[in-house]
Amino acid sequence: MSECKNNDFPIEWLRHTSPYINTHRGSTFVVWVSGTHVDQPAFANLVHDLTLLCHLGVRLVLVHGMRPQIDAELRARGLEPQFGNPLPTNNSENEYRVRITDSQTMPAVQSALATLRSNIESVFSTGLPNTPMSGAQVTLCSGNFVMAKPFGVRDGIDYCHTGEIRRIRNRQIKHILDKDMVVLLSPVGYSPTGEQFNLHSEDVATRAAIDLQADKLIFLHDEALEAGVGPESRHENTNLREISATDHNAGRALPTAMEPLQGVIDNSIFACRNGVQRCHIVSTGDGALLKELFTRDGSGLLIDSGSYDTIRQASTRDVSGIMALVKPLIDENILIHRSEQELERHINDFYVAERDGSVIACASLTIYAKQAELGCLAVNPDFRASGKAGEIVQHLALIAQEKQCQSLFALTTRSGDWFREQGFEPDTLDNLPTARQQRHDATARGSKMFTRKLD
Ligand SMILES: CC(C)(COP(=O)(O)OP(=O)(O)OC[C@H]1O[C@@H](n2cnc3c(N)ncnc32)[C@H](O)[C@@H]1OP(=O)(O)O)[C@@H](O)C(=O)NCCC(=O)NCCS
Repeated sequence: MSECKNNDFPIEWLRHTSPYINTHRGSTFVVWVSGTHVDQPAFANLVHDLTLLCHLGVRLVLVHGMRPQIDAELRARGLEPQFGNPLPTNNSENEYRVRITDSQTMPAVQSALATLRSNIESVFSTGLPNTPMSGAQVTLCSGNFVMAKPFGVRDGIDYCHTGEIRRIRNRQIKHILDKDMVVLLSPVGYSPTGEQFNLHSEDVATRAAIDLQADKLIFLHDEALEAGVGPESRHENTNLREISATDHNAGRALPTAMEPLQGVIDNSIFACRNGVQRCHIVSTGDGALLKELFTRDGSGLLIDSGSYDTIRQASTRDVSGIMALVKPLIDENILIHRSEQELERHINDFYVAERDGSVIACASLTIYAKQAELGCLAVNPDFRASGKAGEIVQHLALIAQEKQCQSLFALTTRSGDWFREQGFEPDTLDNLPTARQQRHDATARGSKMFTRKLD
């Protein structure tokens, strides 16, 4: 038995690591790894580290790419890979090309998938001899967890068996994670009619992270070091260590060296804007993943969802921001007309949510004795469907309650259903406060009233 001398034992390191161990226990991480990396000997080191994470209580979903394997299978069949026209990504003005999976390509995809899955299973099954994780094993579970639909015909190009993700079967995945197994997701999805589709593996990872409400989405990128990510980078370091997804321009105008990472940065920003707390882009270097997860400085590029900032009372310096937000909605007759001067006069009634200096949502609160009116609710289209408006309603309901109001009402022409989902009930205009009735021209807009009781 080897002896551990006291001064060899990294006491400080262990102490500094323990808060991270605590935080990560019970968290769900979706980790993406490229097809290139899976085929390299260094993949075994990554599997040791993933095994360690599992033993520390992390719920792990591993997503693999397989582009080089498909290309190799195609070439073995005397075929050349085919790609469609460039298409815009979901964040920046950048473009990406999608593989065309015709009927000759699909067998190559199936063959690559079968080989790759069994190779991955094999690495996870080795007993990790002569490593600190000797004897430790985890069970991998793969299956029909990704439902897909055809990518279709775009710009006249038929993408045939290339697909888009329809949904991730997250209930089944969670069930497996509950059993301490690692879920392996491949870039192939299935349709209810029995068709198979070739998918973009980064999209599978992103969608899985969103649908599973993962704590982290981690891209282990072959080109991260070259792109200047991490202190070990051979490239002149770009100094870009963190991107806030709340910034409107997040992911745009990246340093040139980082362009190879554009796709995963865009996916990460999208994930953060859709509920994933943090995304990391880490190199495939030995131990880079553990360093990113267990040290303060990390080793990768962090994309942060930012804290969904505080909602605050507006001041006159917010007038132009509010106006920019509501003007298009006024023009569409969704919100009632108000001039900049009127807005300025009533600015104390307004509340805003601000991100990086820009107003991204607003609403007004007007008190009429026991009733309060919520008006002019608007969320910047880039930040919709993330619960922002619900947070504002909740915030204003609390303020109204503090002001002894018994109910909160809103007048709307198009968002009645949305208010009902927020606990409002349809009401009749007769119940408008008298002072408000005098101002209300019901015939002009045909607005409907919705009221929420405040307890
Ligand atoms: C209505 C509005 C404030 C909701 O903002 P939001 O931050 O996207 O709201 P949430 O994230 O809490 O809810 C989003 C959900 O509501 C749904 N929704 C949005 N507008 C809706 C409407 N008019 N009717 C019904 N549902 C609506 C979205 O589809 C989304 O549902 P999903 O998650 O199932 O896809 C926003 O769409 C907006 O600014 N609309 C224009 C202005 C307006 O109509 N204001 C209300 C009148 S005062």
